[in-house]
This record gives sequence, C-alpha cells and structure tokens, in this order.
Amino acid sequence: MDRLIPRWIFPLCALCVLGGDILARILPSPRAIRIDCRTVIESDYELVQVASGAWSVRSVRDSETFHPVIGPVAEAEALYVQQLRIPDRVRAAGPDGFVVWDVGLGAAANVLSVLRALSDVPGEVRVESFDHTAAPLRFARRHDSALGYFHGFESAVDGLLEQRSVRFQHGACTVHWRFHEADFPTLLQRLPSDIPPPDAVLFDAFSPARNPIMWTLPLFESLHRRIPTGNAASLATYSRSTLLRVTLLLAGFWVGAGEATGEKEETTLAATRPELIPRLLDAQWLGRALRSTSAEPLREPIYRQAPLEPASREALLAHPQFASIPSIPRLTTA
Ligand SMILES: C[S@@+](CC[C@H](N)C(=O)[O-])C[C@H]1O[C@@H](n2cnc3c(N)ncnc32)[C@H](O)[C@@H]1O
Repeated sequence: MDRLIPRWIFPLCALCVLGGDILARILPSPRAIRIDCRTVIESDYELVQVASGAWSVRSVRDSETFHPVIGPVAEAEALYVQQLRIPDRVRAAGPDGFVVWDVGLGAAANVLSVLRALSDVPGEVRVESFDHTAAPLRFARRHDSALGYFHGFESAVDGLLEQRSVRFQHGACTVHWRFHEADFPTLLQRLPSDIPPPDAVLFDAFSPARNPIMWTLPLFESLHRRIPTGNAASLATYSRSTLLRVTLLLAGFWVGAGEATGEKEETTLAATRPELIPRLLDAQWLGRALRSTSAEPLREPIYRQAPLEPASREALLAHPQFASIPSIPRLTTA
C-alpha cells in the first residue's frame, strides 16, 4: 500500500476536503456543490436546476433526477397531495389516524409536501417512509436552502435521521413519522407487525428500466396483500406505462389514469376500491394493452419489454374492472 500511494498524498487529500468544505460554505449558489470534492466523493448526489427553475436532487449513480421538469414541490402536490385527496381523507379518518406509506423517501420532497398540506387539518397522520439508503435525505438536508421545501421541518428531519422515528405537531395535525432503511421488496416479504397497512401510498422509485426490483408483479401482489380486505387504500405513481398498469391490475388493484403533473400528461392512480378513482382505465385502454409490445409484467427484477403472455391476457380480461365491457372478444383479436 505504502509503495502504491506515496505518504504525501494524505495531507493533500485532507486539504482538498477542507478546501471544498470551506468553498461550499462561502459560495451561496447551489452550484457550489459541484466544486465541493467531499460531496462528490461522499455522496452520489448532486443538485440540478430543472426546466421550471426549481432545484432538484439527482442521483449520479442511477443517472436519475428525483423530480424532473417541474421540480419537487409542484410534482408532489399534483401527483400525491391532490390526487390521493390526502387532506380530506385525514380529516375524515377515524381515531387510529391516517397512514401514508412513502415508498422511496429519497430527498423527502413528497412526504414534506404532504405534511405541509396538512397544517390546518385537525387529525392524526402516521407516515411510514421506506428507502434502502438515508444518503439522499442527508444530502438534501445539507442543501435545504436551495431546495426550499424543508422550511419548518428541519428539526423533524434531523430527528428522523438520528432516531428513525419522530412525533410532532404540525399546526392542527399530529404527525408520527418513521423511516425504515431497508430494501423495500425484502421488507415487504417480512413486514414487521408494528407497521400498519397504508391508506395512501406515494410510490416513487426510480424508473422501471433502472430500478426493476421496485416494479415487479410479486412486489405489488405483496403490497396488495398487506391491505386488509375492505380497506379503502389508494396508490399514486408518476409512471403511465402499460406494463405498470397491467402489473397493478394483475396484483388486484383497480387502476385509472392519473392527473397530469406538468412533466407528464398522465400518471397512474390505483386503489382497492373503484370509487377512489375518477378515471378508471376503459375498453380503449384495454384494447391498446392487448396489442402492446410492452405490457407483460416483470416477474423478476430484470427489465424487459414483451407483449402479454396468454395467462396474463386471461387474467387481465377476467379483472372485475373490465367485466362490463361487452366487446371483449373483438378486443382480444390482435
Ligand atoms: C425518485 S427517488 C425518490 C424521491 C423521493 N420520493 C423524494 O420525494 O425526494 C427513488 C428512491 O427510491 C429508492 N430506492 C431504489 N431502490 C430501492 C429499494 N430496492 N428499496 C428501497 N428504496 C429504494 C432510492 O434510494 C431513491 O431514494
């Protein structure tokens, strides 16, 4: 080792780290992180400015920006807060409170946007956040002034990072927030009994092509099994792909077209009850899915695109969502 790396390199590295740290503190612009060599070495994240002018976190390793185009807050509000009708449902929840599963905690933009929307809602919300790493949240917290959405939640986030569980009052709303740092599909297989089933799921993994382990049929079947029969639960996600929608249907959910977010003209809303979905997927969508070259769910965590297998076609056509469609024989002929 000594022969490979000369000893004088170590004080030089220390100087670099120190210098980077000092520069990052002096320079006000978020771009300062680009020359902070410690940030680049320590974490795999950077700040990027998206088309709307907002700043968002980007995973360098996964080459994915967490909230592209319209930025973290606008996306979280359109996709999760409004679409899942969280404030109304928290207000109407019983004494056990309302449970949110935040799948892919990341830099916490989704969950903090949800909590911010609850300040004048009397009620109790329990948030169970899942991610296999705390690194993006630590990174985002270090750059919270550029990101903006941490304001007022700094001590809650610090408490969550330190203790993995925080309770606090946010205006009229009582919040109990926990963070489970684990591989989500594995945790779901052996879910600790103290994690209550979700009423709403913010599903925000990286894209299926980059992060296939988070988009498999076994994962969504397992998630569906966690929701007791009769419970009204809904899930929103940014993807509108046929592959994802077929996966959710075959896992047992009702599925609809979700609202536009600015980046996408459509997203996806799934639920255990059809009345939670304003625009259920219809016969036209079914016809397209049956003809699609990319509709077969991922059964393993390997991304690939394929038309529906015969068994998947059968299962899709047998879904109660399509039971009232009269012209199914015509749709099945490719
Ligand atoms: C798009 S980012 C989430 C952004 C986040 N919701 C926010 O509002 O800032 C996707 C997240 O999924 C997490 N993730 C990816 N694969 C995972 C896995 N197998 N288990 C748990 N989390 C995973 C990543 O670490 C990353 O933080």
